Amino acid sequence: MSAGFSNIMDSNSYSGGPDADPLIEARSRVLGPAYRLFYDNPVHLVRGQGTKLYDAEGREYLDAYNNVASVGHCHPHVIDAVTRQMSTLNTHTRYLHETIVEYSQRLLASMPDEVDQVMYACTGSEANDLALRVAAKYTGATGVIVTEEAYHGNTEAVYAISPSMGAEALGPHVRAVSPRLERAEIAAAIADLQQGGFGVSALVVDTIFSSDGIHPDPSILAPAVAAVRAAGGVLIADEVQPGFGRTGDGMWGFTRHGVVPDLVTMGKPMANGMPVSAMAARSDVLAGFATVVPYFNTFGGNPVSMAAAAAVLDVIEGEGLISNAATVGGALSAEVARLAADHPRIGQVRGAGLYLGVEVLDDAGLPDRAGAKGIVNAMRERRVLISVCGGDGNVLKIRPPLVFSMADVDRFVAEFGGVLASFGV
Ligand SMILES: Cc1ncc(COP(=O)(O)O)c(C=O)c1O
Repeated sequence: MSAGFSNIMDSNSYSGGPDADPLIEARSRVLGPAYRLFYDNPVHLVRGQGTKLYDAEGREYLDAYNNVASVGHCHPHVIDAVTRQMSTLNTHTRYLHETIVEYSQRLLASMPDEVDQVMYACTGSEANDLALRVAAKYTGATGVIVTEEAYHGNTEAVYAISPSMGAEALGPHVRAVSPRLERAEIAAAIADLQQGGFGVSALVVDTIFSSDGIHPDPSILAPAVAAVRAAGGVLIADEVQPGFGRTGDGMWGFTRHGVVPDLVTMGKPMANGMPVSAMAARSDVLAGFATVVPYFNTFGGNPVSMAAAAAVLDVIEGEGLISNAATVGGALSAEVARLAADHPRIGQVRGAGLYLGVEVLDDAGLPDRAGAKGIVNAMRERRVLISVCGGDGNVLKIRPPLVFSMADVDRFVAEFGGVLASFGV
């Protein structure tokens, strides 16, 4: 891989071409080189509805990738709630307002009893940044353990705990372990942090291990958490990806692992596209920070954000989206696994709910980055949107809005089967 290559940013990114669209050229002129576009043939979207997206020429795409518009693109209940609140009042948390209190009560009711307070921000990065500060205050330590392809965001502090951004990202106080969280690795990371004088502040994990390639095994996290706690650290469960029902067996990914986190961070699907994020906490863990550091986030927790977030909870509950994730996700997984059985170059099909990872292998059974990219681009040409993840860039990432239907599964499977046949994989 070239210097500066990042799996999460570059595994499925457009790399330019002689006949670039004028919009691409204009975009790169004003945004500069840090931004990436998906696909060899980038998609210019202008409209969305449910699980469907439409490009500037009016072509329809099946969205099997986007987890932000989790209750479906342009859901009318969310639009209505946002429009009504936006037309009434939008201020901030220095004034009293019911929405933030009522929403917090609902959100915390979905958490274990121990997790009883919540603070708001606008992005997952900010929520994780805040969680690191809280953990450091509580533990008196700064050492952090993450998984080797983790992505936790883009502030300076969370970039430093995001090895997927490249080797230069990692801070001296961070140790990366495999997503198998093997006991010996965790023990070595703890010992190393202690010897380095950092101590152990937190284990930070995305509880579905998204950028590590999607690893749903529910037996590995609890022993790692026990070891970290014995060394004085806390568990920060990053629910930005698995949270809000995606894994099909409850609201939160950590529940599958049988652990109660000290801090829980969330964002992306929380308000269906409005920039809303949060950090929930055990109040005893939060107290040391919150009693000495006043907190204000201009946009975090404002009435419009809270209205949008509450509307998302309404839809998750009212449309039974957690059980939909389980049922439709189960059907999708079974159908993809059935296709995979006929294709030696498709390896493991794994996941939970509506979050699926599908390994693409070469003839020797090794990870095939180019093959995975080829499949993703071929699916895009058939107007089905997916992407890739994993340290080797060879795991197809299938993560549709939670309103994915059985008819969507049929369309997905028909196109996926066609792509596998045409690839000879
Ligand atoms: C697991 C995880 N944590 C944190 C973040 C950062 O969230 P944001 O982009 O909202 O800052 C992301 C974003 O992709 C993520 O996937």
